[in-house]
Amino acid sequence: MSKLIFELSSVGRRCSELPPLDVELIEFDEALTRQSTPSIPEVAEVDLVRHYMELSRQAFGVDNGFYPLGSCTMKYNPKINEETSSLAGFAQIHPLQPESTVNGALQSMDELSSALCEVTGMDAFTLQPSAGAHGEFTGLLLIHAYHQHRNDLKRTKVLVPDSAHGTNPASAAMAGYSVISVPSNDKGGVDVDALKSALSDEVAALMLTNPNTLGLFDPNILEISRLVHEAGGLVYYDGANLNAIMGIARPGDMGFDVVHLNLHKTFSTPHGGGGPGSGPVGVKSCLIPFLPKGTLHPTEKKLTVSSEFPIGRMRSFYGNFLTNIRALTYILSLGGEGLKEASENAVLNANYMMAKLSDLYPVAYVGPCMHEFVVSCQKLKDETGITAKDVSKALLDYGIHPPTMYFPNIVHEALMIEPTETESKETLDRAIDVLREIHALAYSNPQVLLDAPKTMPIKRVDDVLAARHPILKYTPEGAQ
Ligand SMILES: Cc1ncc(COP(=O)(O)O)c(C=O)c1O
Repeated sequence: MSKLIFELSSVGRRCSELPPLDVELIEFDEALTRQSTPSIPEVAEVDLVRHYMELSRQAFGVDNGFYPLGSCTMKYNPKINEETSSLAGFAQIHPLQPESTVNGALQSMDELSSALCEVTGMDAFTLQPSAGAHGEFTGLLLIHAYHQHRNDLKRTKVLVPDSAHGTNPASAAMAGYSVISVPSNDKGGVDVDALKSALSDEVAALMLTNPNTLGLFDPNILEISRLVHEAGGLVYYDGANLNAIMGIARPGDMGFDVVHLNLHKTFSTPHGGGGPGSGPVGVKSCLIPFLPKGTLHPTEKKLTVSSEFPIGRMRSFYGNFLTNIRALTYILSLGGEGLKEASENAVLNANYMMAKLSDLYPVAYVGPCMHEFVVSCQKLKDETGITAKDVSKALLDYGIHPPTMYFPNIVHEALMIEPTETESKETLDRAIDVLREIHALAYSNPQVLLDAPKTMPIKRVDDVLAARHPILKYTPEGAQ
């Protein structure tokens, strides 16, 4: 294990030198100054550089290798995004600068909002939320404000399918709603009869991911949104899986009223450790009056305009501005046709891998998939004792990031594989070969898999201990 930067510290060592003082020294009142020096690591520049280089080598990212983490769309982040977002006109401005001095920034926010409206079929976007879950929470507050404003106060429930990502019920609960789970049917879509019985004048909204977390597009979507609307509720689109349908189908045309997008997935901005993320929320016109403060008004194009009945501010200023510039760069460099092609290739790549693996790794819900697919390792576990987790750990030794494991919860021993469109056929073929080899090893030499990973700085962690007693801060020796 590498040492922490604090452990590398040596008193008096420096990696910067301040110029000699050339202004009058001001002595502060002692009551305003620190009584002891802060414990900031003291290291030389070379040690600092080596330390962070070493850490970056230990972290796995899309720039290191294949990263088929289902539901996360770990696509390649084009480097031109970095170039545009570091232009001084974007990177060196301050959110409190007068609007007249940041016209280019305003225009870029407007262009991004308009492009997202076009892709999703929505009428306006707020770029404020910083992540998908933050977008969900924002969307639910908008839905809440909408019902309150109509004096429809009985609506205290939010419906969420049992295949949903965990953030959906969590966001609904945070927004003060009780969560009602709607079961899936035998094809992996929403069970429409169960939905009908769950609907009532107490339901504020249905949250839906389409294609869902099984990688399946719900063919009943028009009926589903009609039923919710007839019951007086709104329909929320979790856009984490938009990568399957960009330029092909629009949530707005499917009847969704609110949408969040994960720019750090679909629109190629950095993800995981590379963030920060961005989770803009799009709405149909009936929800525009409630958009948070700091939203660029869709028609007046002014930052300072606050909405009529805003839900408040969802974060400081105008969202992760430079992340949004990266996403705009991606959209402009691909263009409408390019976005469509990206989705088509994402779906093609997932179906290719699924077809090449499903004889060994049975697919949970059979049929063509969208941009990802879910296999079950239950049979493998029953016959060899090797679990989805063992397969995942073994992949690390082949330089492949594991797929999402044990999600969605409705599939036993699940592995959710999302190759994305940015991978070559050679990369997909190698991953297929590796997964087939691991499958063979499960029968011939399972111990190799149980001992994996052998090449990683950290082997297997105690999941329960890590979850229950995480060590989140460094305590220097001798300190409390
Ligand atoms: C289907 C789905 N919804 C919501 C989220 C939450 O997004 P974020 O991680 O940006 O908060 C995720 C994240 O992976 C997801 O896969």
